[in-house]
Amino acid sequence: MSSSARQAPLPRHIAIIMDGNGRWAQQRGELRHAGHKAGVRPVRMCIKECARRGIDHLTLFAFSSENWGRPDEEVSSLMSLFVEALDSELDELHANGVRLRFIGNRNAFPVRLQARLAAAEARTADNTGLGLHVAVSYGGRWDLTEAARQLAARCVSGGLRPADITEADLAAQLQLAGAPDPDLFIRTGGERRISNFLLWNLAYTELHFCDTLWPDFDVEDFEVALAYFAGRERRFGLTAARPPSGA
Ligand code: IPE
Ligand code: IPE
Ligand code: MG
Repeated sequence: MSSSARQAPLPRHIAIIMDGNGRWAQQRGELRHAGHKAGVRPVRMCIKECARRGIDHLTLFAFSSENWGRPDEEVSSLMSLFVEALDSELDELHANGVRLRFIGNRNAFPVRLQARLAAAEARTADNTGLGLHVAVSYGGRWDLTEAARQLAARCVSGGLRPADITEADLAAQLQLAGAPDPDLFIRTGGERRISNFLLWNLAYTELHFCDTLWPDFDVEDFEVALAYFAGRERRFGLTAARPPSGA
C-alpha cells in the first residue's frame, strides 16, 4: 500500500447491508440457505479488516424486522445459522478484543437465542477493540418508535417536558446510542436503497453501493469502498469541508 493510501481518511464507523445471499445461491442452483452460509466468510473478512485498520465501529445488518415475513424454512435456517456462527466465532472475536453488541428487537427471538445473545455481549463487554454491532430483527422505524415510547414514558412520569426534548435525547434512546454515526454505508447486491436500516443515524453518512453479491464481497471490494469514502468531501450542510463545530 502506498503512503498516500495509508494516510487517506478512514471512517470511524462503517455500516453494511449484507445483501445478495439468495441470488448468489440461486445462480449456483443451490438453496438460499447455502448463500446465507457462504455469507459468513465476508463477515469474518470485514471484521478482520476493520480491526486491522483501527476502525472503531462496524454495524452489520443481518436480519431485518421485515425479514420475518420470509418463508418459515428460510427464517428458521437463518436462526440456526446465527447460533452456529456465534458458537464458532465467539472465542476468536473475544480473543481479538471485539466488543459485540446486538441491536434490534431481540424479544422477537426464541428465549434460548436471546440468552445466547446476552451471554455473548456480557462476555465481550469489557473488550476495548472493534465495536461490532450486529443488527438482528432490526428496523429503523422500529428503533425510532421505541425511542419515542421511551421519551413519552419519561414525559408521562413527569421527568421530561415535551418542549425540552432535544435531538440528543432522542439519539440517546436509539439502539446505537453511544456510537458515532456511521461515516460510510456499504450495500452489496446491487440494490440502491436503505431498506429500513439506520434511518436516523445515516443522516450524513456517505453511501456506497456495490454490485457484488455478499458471499463474493472480498478485500478488494472493501478497499474500493474505503477509497470511495476517502474521496468524498464531507460538508455536513456547510460550505467548506469541515465537520460541524463540536463534532
Ligand atoms: C441478505 O441476502 C441476507 C438477509 C436478508 C438475511 P438476501 O437473502 O436478501 O439475498 P437476495 O437479496 O435475495 O439475493
Ligand atoms: C436488507 O436486505 C436486510 C438485510 C440485508 C438483513 P433485504 O433483501 O431484506 O432488502 P430488500 O427486500 O431488498 O429491500
Ligand atoms: Mg436481499
